Amino acid sequence: MAEKACTIWFTGLSGSGKTTIAHVVEDALRKAGKKVEVLDGDVVRTNLSKGLGFSKEDRDTNIRRIGFVAQLLTRNGVFCICAAISPYREVRDENRKRIGNFIEVYTRCPIPVLKDRDPKGLYEKALKGEIKGFTGVDDPYEEPLHAEVICDTDKESLEQSVAKVLGTLKSKGYL
Ligand code: ADX
Repeated sequence: MAEKACTIWFTGLSGSGKTTIAHVVEDALRKAGKKVEVLDGDVVRTNLSKGLGFSKEDRDTNIRRIGFVAQLLTRNGVFCICAAISPYREVRDENRKRIGNFIEVYTRCPIPVLKDRDPKGLYEKALKGEIKGFTGVDDPYEEPLHAEVICDTDKESLEQSVAKVLGTLKSKGYL
C-alpha cells in the first residue's frame, strides 16, 4: 500500500508568499524522506495549462487540472504541494473533496503590503489599468473559510510560516 500522503494546497493573492513557503516545505519533506512534487501556478500555466487566461472559467479549469494531478500523486504516496492563487472557494473545495487528504494553507497579506512588495510589478500595472482582471485589484479573491493553516505573511517570518505548516502535517499524522 502507498505511504500516507496529502495535498498541501496554498491559496492567496499574487505575491503573498505561496511559492516561497511551498519550496521550503518541499525541502523539509524531502529531508524527512518523503516523495514530493510541487505544482506551482506560474509553472503549470507554461505547460499543463498553457493557453488558459484569467477569466473565472479558465481559472477554474486551471485549478481543476492541478487538483486532478494532485489526486493522482497523493493517492500514490507522493506529497503534492500546490501553489496557485485559486481565487474561487467552490473549486478549491471541490478539490478538497476529491483528494480527501487535503491541507489548505492560506497565505494572507493585506493589499497595501502586496503593492509595496510587487516583485513582478504586476500590481502597479493593474492599478494603472494596464492589466485587467487582476486578482485583488479588479477581480475577486474568496478567502477560505476553513483553512487548516493561515500564514499572515506580513507579520510572521518565513520560518514561522513553514513551522505552522509542518506542525499541522505532524498533528494530522502525515509527518
Ligand atoms: S489562478 O487564478 O488560476 O489560480 P495562477 O496562480 O495559476 O492563477 O497564476 C497567477 C499568476 O499569473 C500570478 O502570480 C501572475 O504572475 C500572473 N497573472 C497574470 N495575469 C493575472 C491576473 N489577471 N490575475 C492574477 N494573476 C495574473
